[in-house]
Amino acid sequence: MEKRIYNFSAGPAILPEEVLKQAQEELFVLPGVGMSVLEISHRSKSFDKIIGEAKENLKKLLDIPDDYDMLFLQGGASLQFSMVPMNFMFPRFKADYIVTGSWSKKAVKEAKRVGIVNIAASTEEGNFKRIPKQDELKFDPDASYVHFTSNNTIYGTQWKTEPEVGSVPLICDASSDMLHKKIDIKKYAFIYAGAQKNMGPSGVTFIILRKDLLERCADSLPTMLNYKTHTEKDSLYNTPNVFGIYIINLISNWLLKNGGLDNMYKVNKEKANLLYNCIDESGGFFKGHADKDSRSLMNITFNLASEDLEKKLVEEATVAGFSGLKGHRSVGGLRASIYNAFPKKGVEDLVSFMINFQKKNG
Ligand SMILES: Cc1ncc(COP(=O)(O)O)c(C=O)c1O
Repeated sequence: MEKRIYNFSAGPAILPEEVLKQAQEELFVLPGVGMSVLEISHRSKSFDKIIGEAKENLKKLLDIPDDYDMLFLQGGASLQFSMVPMNFMFPRFKADYIVTGSWSKKAVKEAKRVGIVNIAASTEEGNFKRIPKQDELKFDPDASYVHFTSNNTIYGTQWKTEPEVGSVPLICDASSDMLHKKIDIKKYAFIYAGAQKNMGPSGVTFIILRKDLLERCADSLPTMLNYKTHTEKDSLYNTPNVFGIYIINLISNWLLKNGGLDNMYKVNKEKANLLYNCIDESGGFFKGHADKDSRSLMNITFNLASEDLEKKLVEEATVAGFSGLKGHRSVGGLRASIYNAFPKKGVEDLVSFMINFQKKNG
């Protein structure tokens, strides 16, 4: 069999090997079903079992209280940039957005089509290298909700704790750090995440929403864009991404088997520390983009002295079997995305490679 290489891509991203192997084994015939998961009806008992188990597992992993619903929708996290304001800006059509990167900016762009957006804080000055402090946040007292991005995939910054917003509903784009640790769901009114980083393949958006928010969803909204449609039909108003939900279920089982989110968090910190230590101990050869107190555990961004040197590193790394290290064009440099499924051994191997590269080029 062809050898797998280390996939540092920001998303779609690496999935647990065990999950891929199980999916491969079950692809032709799903045990006890007699057909492939790609062929089963979303209205079948077999699929009811899959989606039911996925929800049960995620509820367990994240301790999701009973007054919250879970949804598996399509349209990516990007559709949520529109659906959130369309459904929840009611009644005052004002909302607070904390801008910490390109994805928050895209969310703002869509919210502005619906109502008035107050930028509660922005760290664009300095090219989004940090998360704002609580005392920098300037909220609008009339805001219907506060929106923030928990992990900034492109810039490699991450909130360590949620912004404090009092009783105003807190809405979070957690696309690139969902399930990387346990969070206190009760602090949030609504969380959404494109699955393609920590949760599964692309094509599914996972949502956790507090049920009382549904009172805001206007009946005049297009049916497919109204959260009530999807909660009333348990994500099955129309044909969902059956295969994506099946993989999410396998991943939720994998997480439970591997010590749950507390263990994931422990390992994620260990993995990120290995890389950040390598950067910090390089005497300036590698320069981290994010401020130390804003560093992400999922996406580690860094630069070298010149673009040529960065290009050389990416080329040599690719030959050595490390894929997906080129940084996003807005930051340049390099980005190592090390989501839950990324093995610690792969990070250790990258660190050895970086130390060697510095020896030869430093
Ligand atoms: C934080 C964040 N939000 C939103 C998105 C957009 O997700 P999608 O491509 O599923 O629309 C991404 C994609 O990388 C992301 O990292």
